[in-house]
Formats: sequence, structure tokens, C-alpha cells
Amino acid sequence: MLRTHLVFRVLGIESSCDETAASIVEDGTRVISDVVASQNEVHQKYGGVVPELASRAHILNVVPVVQGALERAGLSLEQIDGIAVTNAPGLVGALLVGLQTAKSLAWVTGKPLVGVHHLQGHLSAVYLEPEPPPMPHLALIVSGGHTSLVRVNGHGDVVELGRTRDDAAGEAFDKGAKLLGLGYPGGVVIDRLAKTGNPKAVDLPRSMLAGSHGDDFSFSGLKTALLHHVRATGIPEGQALADLCASYQAAIVEVLVRKTRKAARRERLEHVQVCGGVAANSGLRAAMQAAGSEDGFRVYIPPPNRCTDNAAMIAAAGYHQLIKGERAGLDLDAIPSAPLPRRA
Ligand code: KG4
Ligand code: ZN
Repeated sequence: MLRTHLVFRVLGIESSCDETAASIVEDGTRVISDVVASQNEVHQKYGGVVPELASRAHILNVVPVVQGALERAGLSLEQIDGIAVTNAPGLVGALLVGLQTAKSLAWVTGKPLVGVHHLQGHLSAVYLEPEPPPMPHLALIVSGGHTSLVRVNGHGDVVELGRTRDDAAGEAFDKGAKLLGLGYPGGVVIDRLAKTGNPKAVDLPRSMLAGSHGDDFSFSGLKTALLHHVRATGIPEGQALADLCASYQAAIVEVLVRKTRKAARRERLEHVQVCGGVAANSGLRAAMQAAGSEDGFRVYIPPPNRCTDNAAMIAAAGYHQLIKGERAGLDLDAIPSAPLPRRA
């Protein structure tokens, strides 16, 4: 069919964890609509994501969310040029919901389909901003499931320099918050309480992992240190709680920033992006900007709602795959674990 418009519109669908999202993005840069249905209320009382409940909520939400994205854009399915869906990594039952929806839409409309790696999605969120980083650049991906330092050579061309050996940074926030009885997801609560706390009040460990593991992270020791602290002193209240949150956040942020600075210097990269849910953290945003000013690298961080899971980032990543001619068949499968290619 002859294209009647000169833009390339991608419908993105995301359901890898606890957000059901759909979005329409033009040319990989302009967000036309962006709908996110969060399941926080579903999982809150369990203190973490319950996979079976996540799948059920995705099933209930996915059709209205896709419809909402089309309606807000004022577009019909016919006016979409391609469909991009997160197919890896994530909770398999959750991924399958978005995947089946995307495949059905691709089948009935005949539109091209691509599967997007969730972390490629996070890396692409910054391209929806007016001044994205040039290639190559360094990226710190910090989410609930991942913490990685990545060299980005081009769209879809990345090499992982380091990753967490145990908990992800977001997991450290969430588990810390759970321990302190602050609910789920914990990152945003700790962020808020930390604003009025003293980050030097409680001495907590910074695990730096030296030598050949220099770009790797470890956060499980910090969580254990918090547990010991709480066992010894009880869960504090008021100002003491704010102080503990500020100290805990500072321990996470300091490790993330120090490792990013070191990698940027070694790789001689002058542009650094931070993405994933934890990139919404105000302490990390400020500390990374300050490090960039000191060391001479420029820092790019998407606005908070594009750091946490959304489908605009999936559509942006999918755009680059589609224009390269990539096509997925209706046998496209969900892959629960899909590590990024690692530097040898
Ligand atoms: O990227 P994301 O939405 O989902 C995954 O791909 O995992 O990241 C979710 C994580 C959660 O662990 C959540 O606590 C954390 O991001 N998060 C934050 C903040 N907002 C979300 N962590 C610290 N400070 C925040 N403001
Ligand atoms: Zn994510």
C-alpha cells in the first residue's frame, strides 16, 4: 500500500513487569500518545511483584491501554506503520500478554512486528528528549531488575562493561523500603524521605568490587547491613527515619556514581546517560550531574516518567529495528532472561 504520510509511526507495547503500557511514537523521537497502567495497588500488600497477579492485571489492562493510546493519538490501527513489543527479559507470563496482543494486531493488520529487549527500550527513552546523547556514549541502566554499565556504540549496538552480581539497585531500594515498613515500590518513598534526612547519619557499606570486576556492582551487603542496623536499633521514626533513608540512598548513589565516573574516564566517553526506574531518583540525578560537571562529561537523564517502565521507549527502540528491516514472525517468543552482550 502507498504510504500517504512521511512519518513512520510505531505502536509500542510493554508488559514485562508490573506496568501495562502502550504508546505511539513518530520517527523514534516524537511521542504522540503514552499510556501507562500501573499495578502498584495490586502488589503493594505483598511488598513486591507477584508474577501471577501481574499476568492477570496485564490481561485486564492491555486492550484498554492499547485502545487508549490510539484514541489519544487520534489514530486508527491502519495509520500505524509498525508494532514493537517487549519480548525479553521479564516475567514470562507478563511478557506473553503484551506479546500475544502485539502478534494479534500484527496478524489482523498485516503491519510489521519487532520484539524489543526491555533494556534497549530503557536506553532509547533518552532519544525522545530534545537533545539526546551522541554515539558512542556510556549508559548506566538502573532498574528494579537490572544494574549495568554499558557502552552504547549505536542503536542496538551495545556492549556491557559491568553488571550487578546480586541485587539490582532498584531491588536494593525496594528491599530496604520493605525492611523499613515503607511499602512497595520503595524507591520513590525512600527518595522522598531522604530529602529531609542527613546522608551521613548512619554509616553503611559501599561495595566497590575492584580489579577485573571493577565495573560490576553488588548491593546485597548493603541490604544486610541495613537489616543488622534495624535489628540492633529498631525501625526509627520521624527525623531518624529520614536520616536512615538518606544514608541508605547515599550508599547506593555513591557506588553508582563512582563506578560511572571511572568507566567514563577509562572509556574516554564524554556523554553519559542514566536510565531505568532508579534514574528517577533525585539524589542520583543530582549526584550524577555534579560528577559530570567536575569530570567534564555531559549527563542525559530522561524525565522521571520515562525512567520507569513505559511503552514510548519500546516504540523508540523498535523504530530503529523496523527501519533497519528487522521483522519478527508470529512465532516471536517471550524470553525471561536475556543478558546484554558482555565485553570479553
Ligand atoms: O525500570 P523500572 O520501572 O522497572 C524495571 O525494569 O525493573 O524500575 C523500577 C524500579 C523499582 O525498583 C523502583 O523502586 C525504582 O525503579 N524507582 C526508584 C524511584 N522511582 C522508581 N528508585 C529510587 N528512587 C526513585 N525515585
Ligand atoms: Zn524497566
